Amino acid sequence: MEQIIALDEFAQDTLKGLSSEKKYLFSKYFYDKKGSEIFRDIMRMPEYYLTNCELEIFQTQKEQILSEFKNGGAHFDILELGAGDGLKTKVLLSHFVNRQIDFTYSPIDISGTAVTNLVEDLKDDIPGLQVNGLNGDYFKMLDSFKNNGNPRKIALFLGSNIGNFNDAQTLDFLLKLRNSLNSTDQVFIGFDLKKEENIILKAYNDKAGHTAAFNLNLLVRINRELGADFNIDNFYHHEVYDNLSGRAESFLISNTTQEVHIKMLGMTFPFLRDEKIYTEMSQKYDLQMIENLADKTGFQIVRNYVDKRQYFMNSLWKLKS
Ligand code: AVJ
Repeated sequence: MEQIIALDEFAQDTLKGLSSEKKYLFSKYFYDKKGSEIFRDIMRMPEYYLTNCELEIFQTQKEQILSEFKNGGAHFDILELGAGDGLKTKVLLSHFVNRQIDFTYSPIDISGTAVTNLVEDLKDDIPGLQVNGLNGDYFKMLDSFKNNGNPRKIALFLGSNIGNFNDAQTLDFLLKLRNSLNSTDQVFIGFDLKKEENIILKAYNDKAGHTAAFNLNLLVRINRELGADFNIDNFYHHEVYDNLSGRAESFLISNTTQEVHIKMLGMTFPFLRDEKIYTEMSQKYDLQMIENLADKTGFQIVRNYVDKRQYFMNSLWKLKS
């Protein structure tokens, strides 16, 4: 018998997900080195409209965004949750620096190298920017900024990253965020809006196959890190979109009856032909849903910013009074 020693979180989550009646894996594990590279390719392809829309909003409305962020003019901190490569945020930051605004930018990420790289890059790219990279858990970081004479802060959660949460996780996240803020703080969230089904399906099932590679890379990661024997050719990427709920969902589908052994778990998982593994949710929103979310979690909308085609919305919230 194989002996099982303490499993790390990835191993435990994989065990739970593949043992479940309806198999699933968590999208947070997409972002290993290869996965992060593929995600950068996704952001560069024309079908993935989200990045360009948010960029357009920042480029065309940076002055209006600044006028709300400033709120009087005293020093403020911009905290970005999961900053990535900061490509879009840079548009706002360099505009604020040019306008000689007194603010600090603090990107927060659980990946220490991501933060270090971004900070180095920003120092070159935007001279004069006050930047303070923070490595760690979002909420621990936010909590350390609460009520101790720190300046007003604006928490950024961009790119429709919020869409990866299910309904319960979204409420949980926003309530936690609410509780880590002081009364004059604000949040600025990127929401991908509901739109014609075909546009969404193309963004999440592109011809060049970047999204398929991104999804399948999860199995490659399990092979490498957990000693599994997934045959990547025996699975394919599948995307569905439901207009009513606004849910875009990604699956990996087994194209044959097969068994997969995972050494580190000491287990073999059977797959039927056509059996699905649920891998990602990318929620799309309408204004009503965004208003409801704000209202249920103790926020009120200050101002919404949309792109020309109304594909994407950046929503600025303050605490409900
Ligand atoms: C990084 C969560 C915003 O859901 O649109 C892109 C990830 N997945 N293509 C999204 C993703 C497939 C992306 N987010």
